[in-house]
Amino acid sequence: MTDHDYGAVAAEIKKIIPNDDYDDGSTGPVLVRLAWHASGTYDKETGTGGSNGATMRYKIESSDSANNGLEYARKFLEPIKAKFPWISYSDLWTLGGVVAIEAMGGPKVPWKPGRVDDVDDQYVPPNGRLPDASQGADHIRSIFYRMGFNDQEIVALSGAHNLGRCHGDRSGFEGPWVPNPIRFTNTYFKLLLHAEWVKGKNSVGNEQFYSDDGELMMLPTDMSLVTDPKFRVWVEKYAADRDLFFKDFSAAFSKLIELGVTRGPEGLALRKYSTVARARL
Ligand code: HEM
Repeated sequence: MTDHDYGAVAAEIKKIIPNDDYDDGSTGPVLVRLAWHASGTYDKETGTGGSNGATMRYKIESSDSANNGLEYARKFLEPIKAKFPWISYSDLWTLGGVVAIEAMGGPKVPWKPGRVDDVDDQYVPPNGRLPDASQGADHIRSIFYRMGFNDQEIVALSGAHNLGRCHGDRSGFEGPWVPNPIRFTNTYFKLLLHAEWVKGKNSVGNEQFYSDDGELMMLPTDMSLVTDPKFRVWVEKYAADRDLFFKDFSAAFSKLIELGVTRGPEGLALRKYSTVARARL
């Protein structure tokens, strides 16, 4: 490995997280979402997709409607890339998520450098690999099982909705999940279980769930975590035990950002697909 100072990059990322001019005063939530969407395209059958390659730099992927709004996150990180040109975008985007989680009070997430950016768009995964918030438990399972996650990991990862908000002009959903959306805690799970959620139509015409004062929201997919009995067991555990949630979230997020990153002896990621994978892309 090289002797690049990733700690210095992390320190610079940390500085751009408080931002009074953006959303709820933090760039953290959208940075976490960038790390997740850059990684969540992974398909374990073909080994395609995932964070390695930083394929969201290419139009096919950045224009997937699931990625609306992530241009903000990419722009926030651009001055850091300019300052440390040796870091790959794929390392920078995943590190951005990890630094943001910790800066907002969440757990430390193990992160390794060495991802290598693609030089053209031949390996960009197809659109449609990220979850659709209007659906339910079967859909979530098919998307996350494809990445190699189990039910417990799905619920742990969903706890990231303790952060940030939905934007009508990006996803067609509106509002934050919790009262303080820039602090990483297990409030999302507590609210899922203990608040009253009423189905309604938002101003864009999509169905979502509202708290009784109308201030907070849940997506249809969020609600399926309490209506599906196997998911619900984990929601109950994480609502009751913040430390367990932090431990499991950290492990699952670390796994997420390593998806599709096959490392060679130097720790550098290899960028090779089988012919089967290539044929399916
Ligand atoms: C069932 C799976 C999931 C669905 C359907 C889903 C859907 C959504 C939607 C519709 C938004 C709003 C986007 C916008 O309007 O700006 C959102 C935001 C967000 N999601 Fe998810 N998500 C899922 C899983 C995850 C996971 C696994 C993570 C990370 C581990 C995550 C992290 C976030 C964050 C941090 C935001 C807030 C972004 C911001 O404030 O700009 N989500 N998600």
